Amino acid sequence: MIKKIVLTGAGGRLGSYIREPISKICESLVSSDIKEDIGKLYKNEQYVKADISIYDEIEPIIKDATIVCHFGAIVDELPFNELLGPNFIGSYNVWEASKKHGVKRVIYASSIHAVGMNSRTVTLKPDTPHRPDSFYGLAKCFTEDLAKMYFEKNGIEAVCLRIASCAPVNTLRGLSSWLSYNDLIQLVIRSIETSYTGFTTLYGVSNNDRKNIDNTDASHIGFLPKDNAEVYAEKIFKSDLGDELSDIGNQCHGGAFASTELGVSPMKKMNIIHDPKIKK
Ligand SMILES: NC(=O)c1ccc[n+]([C@@H]2O[C@H](COP(=O)([O-])OP(=O)(O)OC[C@H]3O[C@@H](n4cnc5c(N)ncnc54)[C@H](O)[C@@H]3O)[C@@H](O)[C@H]2O)c1
Repeated sequence: MIKKIVLTGAGGRLGSYIREPISKICESLVSSDIKEDIGKLYKNEQYVKADISIYDEIEPIIKDATIVCHFGAIVDELPFNELLGPNFIGSYNVWEASKKHGVKRVIYASSIHAVGMNSRTVTLKPDTPHRPDSFYGLAKCFTEDLAKMYFEKNGIEAVCLRIASCAPVNTLRGLSSWLSYNDLIQLVIRSIETSYTGFTTLYGVSNNDRKNIDNTDASHIGFLPKDNAEVYAEKIFKSDLGDELSDIGNQCHGGAFASTELGVSPMKKMNIIHDPKIKK
């Protein structure tokens, strides 16, 4: 059994779904976030508050870890200066501390926004070059390159998960980009348990009929998504699609992030459902 896994961003929505399954495959899960607390803890889990943009706060947490799952970030498009600390320097701090403490592998919550300016007619593959749609996406590109550099220079393995959209399906885009919570869990567990990953990039997307994403070149991870957003298609096509159809960003994989001005949040237009898992 893996001795210690660290999870950043543990207080976030995705963190709330992966804490329990990760805690079951290690002796100790150290969950971390900038929030005061993250609610009730699972067996084998402890919580340490830390700001990832401050090296001296995150470094001691990573001591003795075998795996770091780096999910902490500001999840929005904002002016560059507001993303610089958490999303850029935070990544540097995580990898630099991982190097210091001999971490075997970092699993990184990257994003489709690293390649979001690609047309929806283009099939995204693990080696699709960076084409960010925002400063937020640029931070994901930066961190993927950082991860590759620390692998090539220092041997720290990395799995960069270009997550498409992991939230309940309530848009046309979601019919192609959805990653269900169960498939997210499978993706993270496979990324942890695969014996050797080297530096790998793959997409976090469910087995949707309408996805234009091909993970074949990362099949060594063994990620076989089970859910399919098509079950929501009838409901979505009966809803008012006017705003979504008139946003030219939706001609790109990045959706509203592709059409927003740099530094301006598109989140309001996206109407994302915030449904974190609450431990009873
Ligand atoms: N949800 C999605 O569809 C999606 C898609 C692509 C990528 N991702 C990535 O997955 C990760 C988790 O996303 P989420 O949807 O759970 O978002 P979230 O906002 O719910 O979670 C992010 C967490 O990071 C924490 N955080 C922010 N700044 C921090 C700092 N300075 N120090 C420590 N912690 C800090 C926040 O407090 C929050 O709990 C993010 O890296 C995000 O970019 C999510």
